[in-house]
Amino acid sequence: MEKDEKPTNSNGADVKEISEGLATIWTKGAVFYNPVQEFNRDLSIAVISSFIHDYKQEIKITKKGEAGTEDYKVTILEALSATGLRSIRYAKEIPGVAKVIANDISLTAVEDIKQNVIKNNVEQIVSARHCDASMLMYQHRHKNEQFDIIDLDPYGCPSQFLDSTVQAVKEGGLLLITATDMAILCGNSPETCYSKYGAIPIKIKSCHEMAVRILLQCIELHANRYSRYIVPLLSLSADFYIRVFVRVFSGAQKCKFSATKLSHIYHCTGCDSFTLQLLVTVKSDKSNHKFSIPTGPLVSKHCEQCKHPHHIGGPIWSAPIHSPEFVKKVLDNVPSSLKTYKRIEGILNVVLEELVDVPLYYTLDKLSGTLHVEMPSMMALRSALLNAGYHVSFTHMNKTSIKTDAPKKVVWDIMRCWARTHPVAQKRLIQGTPAFNILSIEPEKDYSFKIHPHANPESRKKGFLRFQENPTPHWGPGCRATIMVGEQKIQKSVRNQGKRKRETSEEGVDK
Ligand SMILES: C[S@@+](CC[C@H](N)C(=O)[O-])C[C@H]1O[C@@H](n2cnc3c(N)ncnc32)[C@H](O)[C@@H]1O
Ligand SMILES: [Zn+2]
Repeated sequence: MEKDEKPTNSNGADVKEISEGLATIWTKGAVFYNPVQEFNRDLSIAVISSFIHDYKQEIKITKKGEAGTEDYKVTILEALSATGLRSIRYAKEIPGVAKVIANDISLTAVEDIKQNVIKNNVEQIVSARHCDASMLMYQHRHKNEQFDIIDLDPYGCPSQFLDSTVQAVKEGGLLLITATDMAILCGNSPETCYSKYGAIPIKIKSCHEMAVRILLQCIELHANRYSRYIVPLLSLSADFYIRVFVRVFSGAQKCKFSATKLSHIYHCTGCDSFTLQLLVTVKSDKSNHKFSIPTGPLVSKHCEQCKHPHHIGGPIWSAPIHSPEFVKKVLDNVPSSLKTYKRIEGILNVVLEELVDVPLYYTLDKLSGTLHVEMPSMMALRSALLNAGYHVSFTHMNKTSIKTDAPKKVVWDIMRCWARTHPVAQKRLIQGTPAFNILSIEPEKDYSFKIHPHANPESRKKGFLRFQENPTPHWGPGCRATIMVGEQKIQKSVRNQGKRKRETSEEGVDK
């Protein structure tokens, strides 16, 4: 086929032409393309660009003098490529990429990739492969054949690819991994989540962060089998999926620390409070490390605040999920030409404000909903925590989120103080309910809701696009072999998008 010749599919009808970033692709409709994922692809371009800059510097320093390190050539594998769009964009938009392999198991997809590569003039950089992703990665698990960067963007769950992925990436290399099976990761069927990810999810308000942490523990466990471990650079929950960016390193000694980065969760079924219990603790004295099993449980049989029982979930990754230094570099270098630049800028600014050592979060609506009280403004609740000497932040995952290092007792005492001035209707205070039990306990002191000078975060003051707008057309993970651009196909889903949200309007929560 000539470069400018437009292909037709078997029944002679035109194929779809799609432009995104610097790429223009054709796809026959049997191959997956989801326009909502443009944010995912834009962000990946920004992350890989920053990563390559640092990675090349590291290679120059650690392998000084070795041949070929002066202008190190980076190779990317897109293991599940569909149309090749992502690979083509990586080749055209990321400086310093020498080679991209765009692989897919579907022959139709590989035909699309080949034709798109020619159309975009990137034959020198991008090559198509038709292979099972795991098989391809196993073929590249030896040192000189590994990839610097591997992108895994599956339908649903990535876990079946992880064993090969953690072996096929170079020392210090980067993995970009998406999971779209959010219902499973967020606790809809714990037994399925266990069989896929090796962890029990909990139905908790901070389920999106728990999902990210389950995926990270799953990648870590796979890496540990080969004396490797991960260092998360950035971990996001966006739209209908999660996406993590992690580096992989080797070292049996370092792997001993993996169990100190994982925790079980005790989750109160009455008030949504949570307590994390590490799998293993470590006491370090210079280079001596003493690992021990902690005693537990860290909670009583019934929650001390609301007297309801706990569920036990996990293990989840409980170490930091982002590297603020890295995120800052990405933010400083995101090309403003990217179509979703504003959203990337907004999310990364919120990420930088997140309390990095505090896993999970409360939500304003759940705290007040549990007590059946009028909802305090976000600024008032954040002020009460700050006035009491604790830290507080949002997370990019939820616009009513409250991440804090304050103990649960303090969080609930603040809500008890709020309830004194915003009393609950007596008819709602039914004996034995979480609200009744929580409000039966007197707060230890009076907490002040006077607006604190730091209650309003910089990202909000500066008016960044911090949280996702209402879902756009085509929103959703799509299914195998879907071009999500046909209006007919999406009409019902569009009609229903945000329906539940509209019914339970969250108006005013960001005040
Ligand atoms: C969600 S799509 C990828 C979308 C693409 N990364 C993008 O940004 O547009 C998943 C792709 O994985 C392919 N796939 C599924 N199982 C595979 C396997 N075992 N090996 C290789 N490709 C596979 C499917 O054919 C499909 O094209
Ligand atoms: Zn409770």
